[in-house]
Amino acid sequence: MLVLTLKSPLPLLFFFIFFTISFAELCNPNDKKALLNIKKAFNNAYYFASWKPEEDCCTWYSVECDENSHRIISLDISTDNEISGQIPPYVGDLPFLQSLMLHKLPNLVGPIQPAIAKLHNLKHLDISWTNISGTIPDFLSSLSKLTYIRLSFSNLSGAIPSSLSKLPNLEFLQLDRSKLTGLIPYSFGDFKAKGFYLYLSHNKLSGKIPPSLSRVDFESVDLSRNKLEGDASMIFGAHRNTWKVDLSRNLLEFDMSKVVFSRSLFMLDLNHNKIFGGLPPQMTKLSNLNSFNVSYNRLCGQIPKGGELQRFDVYSYFHNKCLCGAPLESCK
Ligand SMILES: *[C@@H]1O[C@H](CO)[C@@H](O)[C@H](O)[C@H]1NC(C)=O
Ligand SMILES: *[C@@H]1O[C@H](CO)[C@@H](O)[C@H](O)[C@H]1NC(C)=O
Ligand SMILES: *[C@@H]1O[C@H](CO)[C@@H](O)[C@H](O)[C@H]1NC(C)=O
Repeated sequence: MLVLTLKSPLPLLFFFIFFTISFAELCNPNDKKALLNIKKAFNNAYYFASWKPEEDCCTWYSVECDENSHRIISLDISTDNEISGQIPPYVGDLPFLQSLMLHKLPNLVGPIQPAIAKLHNLKHLDISWTNISGTIPDFLSSLSKLTYIRLSFSNLSGAIPSSLSKLPNLEFLQLDRSKLTGLIPYSFGDFKAKGFYLYLSHNKLSGKIPPSLSRVDFESVDLSRNKLEGDASMIFGAHRNTWKVDLSRNLLEFDMSKVVFSRSLFMLDLNHNKIFGGLPPQMTKLSNLNSFNVSYNRLCGQIPKGGELQRFDVYSYFHNKCLCGAPLESCK
């Protein structure tokens, strides 16, 4: 009707085109429905105030749509005390999700939601600083695009599933600060990434470190504060570009004098173990060594002179069996 009152319909046509382009809903209706279900499952917490049904869900806080397909590819719900309850099953209804992050949600409880098994495009999974519990599910190993898994600071218990080593693209695995028990799986020697990150510290892992880990190209390893025993020399080796190794506060017992270190080593912490033997002279060649601690072990003999080794103070070396030489007292 309005059109008829105008001399020319053209300006109005342009107006309609402009209106359509700027206000058309880009968000996929199924994705929107899933997100609104997630919001409802979390009792419409204030965190989700921008998730308004009448607005394009690609504009909502905490979500990201793909530029071309406009499907939801990232959901990042972080740092909120009000969000409580379990991970809603509706997260499984976002089939194009590549990144799922649930971080610093102290009142998030219950298991790792089984519906996550449906997220076959997932590359990045981060459920950390929460109170989720139960075991780490086997189904993660079927999400073959995963490159990054972080399940830190939670109430997870039980054994680490050995099937995780089947993930062909995994580069980063962080399962620290939970209540995990049992062995480090032997299969973890199968990780193929160039520069693998493995963080399993602050758990209750026990037994021997599998010798298969000698095959992994570690960039950074932290197995500290567990109950691991026996040999750990397979973690080291000149063939790697490892820059960080923290094995402190375990029950490890091996001859340090036989270990060959990566030349790129930047941080080495072995404090509170039962490591014996002497420090190998090769350690003076570790020119990147910046942080170093072998205190509270059973090491003996002269600290090799040179390189970075005399730049560390007494507290990097103290409480050993008979370690001597600078910075400790000179050998008798
Ligand atoms: C788990 O819940 C307890 C008790 O509510 C809380 O003190 C703790 O911070 C929570 N843990 C995490 C990692 O959020
Ligand atoms: C954490 O796990 C323990 C048992 O391992 C359980 O008693 C406790 O309720 C759990 N905490 C939360 C917040 O789920
Ligand atoms: C090495 O570890 C011991 C034991 O935790 C600690 O007391 C000492 O301060 C550490 N040394 C350095 C240089 O951080």
